[in-house]
Amino acid sequence: MSKILKVGVVGVGGIAKTHMPGWAASEHAEVVAGSDISAEALENWGAVYGVTKLASDPAELFRDPDIDIIDVCTPNRYHAPISIAALDAGKHVLCEKPLAPTPEEIEAMIAARDRTGKLLMTAQHFRFRGDSQALKAEAAAGALGEVYHARSWMLRRGWLPVRPGFIYKKHSGGGPTIDVGVHILDLTLWLMGNPQPVAVSGVAKAPLALREGAFSQWRLDPIPQDMDVEDFAAAFVRFENGATLVLETSWLLHHDTPGEDTQIWLYGTEGGCHWPSTKILETNYETRQFSNRFLQLTQDKMEPHALECVAFAKAITEGAPSPVPAEESLQVQQILDGIYRSEREGGEVRVGP
Ligand SMILES: NC(=O)c1ccc[n+]([C@@H]2O[C@H](COP(=O)([O-])OP(=O)(O)OC[C@H]3O[C@@H](n4cnc5c(N)ncnc54)[C@H](O)[C@@H]3O)[C@@H](O)[C@H]2O)c1
Repeated sequence: MSKILKVGVVGVGGIAKTHMPGWAASEHAEVVAGSDISAEALENWGAVYGVTKLASDPAELFRDPDIDIIDVCTPNRYHAPISIAALDAGKHVLCEKPLAPTPEEIEAMIAARDRTGKLLMTAQHFRFRGDSQALKAEAAAGALGEVYHARSWMLRRGWLPVRPGFIYKKHSGGGPTIDVGVHILDLTLWLMGNPQPVAVSGVAKAPLALREGAFSQWRLDPIPQDMDVEDFAAAFVRFENGATLVLETSWLLHHDTPGEDTQIWLYGTEGGCHWPSTKILETNYETRQFSNRFLQLTQDKMEPHALECVAFAKAITEGAPSPVPAEESLQVQQILDGIYRSEREGGEVRVGP
């Protein structure tokens, strides 16, 4: 029986709770400690999950020789400093998305990972869904040929998270681009085989959130008018291999789908596909016929948030690579950061190394 890895969670709010079933299900890990700047949140979380090692200062967890993994679940701006301190203290790090709000911070996290030899993984749970895994396998087997164009969008009609960690740049680094755009963009790049982005033309603005009477269906909260992030963004991305991508993301939009419309369409030389439907679109050039088929899916055994925790502990135990490498999150952030730069500069910007 291999060692049970001990996990310390930093930031015990909403998303940390979705990780707990994964740590509980893992045969390789268990949660033993937590840290949060809110004493009340920390006490409540400790009581619910039976965790007694609680610290207001995360450095206490980093100094604890019993702890092997730090699970970073704080608002975005604190991901890099907490992860780097944890890596330098010899801990493996699972960090929520976005890995960090800027490419420079992610590069610093990669450097910390490399000088310590520890594992660093981004919690991109979309990748762990059964539909994503099935499409990835199909694309990797060549069903799409070379993917030369993609469209992806994650559009909410009226769901803006009215919390300081999301609506003020000093905590989040940005709005839906960085909050939900990161999910759909990470999955799109992964399905495309992670081509290197080289140029971005984008817009990021708040046409609805700052109008009189603006509200979010998130508890029907009014939107604080000092919110300083965008509510909508769109971009056109060019990749080194010649492929292109159109990306759209919003928290508020007069869009004809209640809730959230989240899709990816990929166009390849041998076929196309849609996510999450897993529809594959093909052409028989001899019979001159079009055909569509759907992939066979098996029932997901666990929530994808839980599966990512299980996968991380397993990778550490087996000495395997990170299930979501930071280099792939760096590409994601080069594009998202490029959207903000393009908005400021009013034209296409170069991104990447
Ligand atoms: N993967 C997903 O589907 C998903 C969904 C929601 C949020 N998230 C990500 O999770 C992170 C947290 O979001 P949330 O919804 O849980 O927010 P939240 O506001 O519910 O919880 C954040 C917690 O972090 C604590 N905190 C803030 N600064 C801290 C610091 N410096 N040190 C320690 N604790 C600190 C807060 O007190 C709070 O308890 C964000 O990065 C967000 O992007 C991911």
